[in-house]
Amino acid sequence: MLRRLLTDQRGELAARATLRTDAWWIEPLVVALVLGSFGIYATWAALQNAHYYAAPYLSPFYSPCLSTDCQHVTLPLFGRMPSLPVVGALSPAFLILWVPGLFRLTCYYYRKAYYRSFWGAPPGCAVSDVRGGYTGETRFPLLFQNLHRYAFYLAVVLVVILTYDAILAFRFPEGFGIGVGTLVMFANVILLGCYTFSCHSCRHLCGGHLDVFSTAPRRYGLWYMVTQLNAHHPLFAWLSLSSVGLADLYIRLVSMGVIRDLRIILLRLV
Ligand code: FES
Repeated sequence: MLRRLLTDQRGELAARATLRTDAWWIEPLVVALVLGSFGIYATWAALQNAHYYAAPYLSPFYSPCLSTDCQHVTLPLFGRMPSLPVVGALSPAFLILWVPGLFRLTCYYYRKAYYRSFWGAPPGCAVSDVRGGYTGETRFPLLFQNLHRYAFYLAVVLVVILTYDAILAFRFPEGFGIGVGTLVMFANVILLGCYTFSCHSCRHLCGGHLDVFSTAPRRYGLWYMVTQLNAHHPLFAWLSLSSVGLADLYIRLVSMGVIRDLRIILLRLV
């Protein structure tokens, strides 16, 4: 009797994929829409190769600008970008966008989010996989998710450079000032910093390989701070994704002349 009951239940589960009756599908759907829209916007913005600098603001999608034909060169490590027959000159954004792309792609939190939303592996807690065959992250290509800690080191360098950009955003052609764009760039760098330093790899870097915290009070202090941030990692993931897209959009619209950057304070240098 019990055996038959269990068999029936298993059969029902397989047929229905889940016994959950709540709207569990909303979260993966929203994640797919937001991540998909961001991916399309970021690719479009990177392909534009224009309107990414409106003095003194440089879009985070193009920073650091590493080719000599950038609208605002940060570090001229490369010469002019190569030209392709139909497309024209390649965008310098592609020299840099792979770093934040790799960092987010291999992020522990985003992995959960996009495995659910795009691969349905599984689409939600207590919901069957959309298709079988998921073997975890122990073999190619998902084995490369282990590169995350190295992507973290590169992302830290990027946060330092974006902080430098945000400081430069006080230096207007007319003098020292604060514009709405300055605030946008600072808000973006703060959120990116919160996202980067709340990373699980950062937490491990601060407190990993220690058996006894009392022997390393400084590392304990750092680990404790990162742990507090780490509790909000998913929130910082979404806020920083939004802020980086909005910062690019704001600078783009100012550069195109669609909106005017309001100066809150401006001290003219004579
Ligand atoms: S775990 Fe999300 S950025 Fe490292």
